[in-house]
Amino acid sequence: MIQFLKKFLRFWGNEVAVDLGTAHTLVYIKGEGIVLNEPSVVAVDQTTGKVLAVGEEAKRMLGKTHQGILAKRPMKDGVITDFELVQEMLYTFLARIIKHNLWANPRALIAVPSGVTEVERRAVRDSAASAGAREVMLVAEPIAAAVGIGLPIEEPTGNMIVDIGGGTTEIAVIALSGIVTNSSIRVAGDEMDEAIVQFIREKYRIEIGQQTAEQIKIQIGNVFPLEETRHMEVRGRDLVTGTPKTIEVTSNEIREALQPVVLQIVDAIKRALENTPAELVADVIDRGIYMTGGGALLRGLDSLIKEETNLPVRVVDNPLECVALGAGKILEEIDHYRNVLIQSKVPSLSR
Ligand SMILES: Nc1ncnc2c1ncn2[C@@H]1O[C@H](COP(=O)(O)OP(=O)(O)OP(=O)(O)O)[C@@H](O)[C@H]1O
Ligand SMILES: [Mg+2]
Repeated sequence: MIQFLKKFLRFWGNEVAVDLGTAHTLVYIKGEGIVLNEPSVVAVDQTTGKVLAVGEEAKRMLGKTHQGILAKRPMKDGVITDFELVQEMLYTFLARIIKHNLWANPRALIAVPSGVTEVERRAVRDSAASAGAREVMLVAEPIAAAVGIGLPIEEPTGNMIVDIGGGTTEIAVIALSGIVTNSSIRVAGDEMDEAIVQFIREKYRIEIGQQTAEQIKIQIGNVFPLEETRHMEVRGRDLVTGTPKTIEVTSNEIREALQPVVLQIVDAIKRALENTPAELVADVIDRGIYMTGGGALLRGLDSLIKEETNLPVRVVDNPLECVALGAGKILEEIDHYRNVLIQSKVPSLSR
């Protein structure tokens, strides 16, 4: 009986924190931790419009589907580009982890990029509400990241977070539970992949897919000279003959390809530092920059930023999970953290 009651209460009181990212969606259940981490991809049957797969399964279809199926990423540059697909995706993810019953509709805390507009925020709220959330709360990603790292965000000390995701790079200085300076540029991991695609197209006249580009970036990508040059075999389509072709690329070439993208990120960090009040810059000089998001894992990026800014730079322990962990912690201690939530000016759709 107690077991049953516990179960019932768990469903009834479901509360989830979601990091709805351009590349990955993570879901944290209150009291349990992260229970889902999947690519933000949806595969749709073009004739019927039916969703065929979401997450990992749909990602495997990206770039490989025939005409009847479309595998899409419904988010771009950190914001929703296809409202209905995001709704379907969230619904499927939530249904997977929460057994639905009449009272199971969860309360959801969703992390959104700090630079999103009111309209974009509303799209997130409404997607979550239509996907079954009974109450939707929003928090800015850098705040969630800072909480996830375990930084003392309530103190009058400045902490700088640089979160390089798939679609956006968020740079924020946080103090006294708020964002003091913030810039969000829509340049991050996806642009790195695109730069690799273009580099290989121009240099070798070979077309490769985004997924291949991402693998190259993860395997041999770097932005600071490595001790030894690495090589990787890459398959693509010869643009002249149209036939498949295998080439070998080196880590030096990839560094060259990534440089323009990475410099945009470095410039944005420098600009953010210029716009930060002097007192807080002094804190950042002491405490350094915290790098998070999947892009923080790019080899040598920390060294490059350190060299360019003359500041200590550290990559956090769980760069891919930090926002979800922080949002989860906020949910666990919601009364303590209520003041960090984004207040909405526009009411969301009610179900
Ligand atoms: N080892 C690695 N080296 C370089 N890039 C990496 C590595 N691992 C993951 N990435 C990149 O990190 C990005 C995904 O990061 P993350 O999951 O933090 O993004 P996201 O939160 O979904 O996106 P956003 O916050 O922009 O909405 C992808 O572009 C991925 O290719
Ligand atoms: Mg992110």
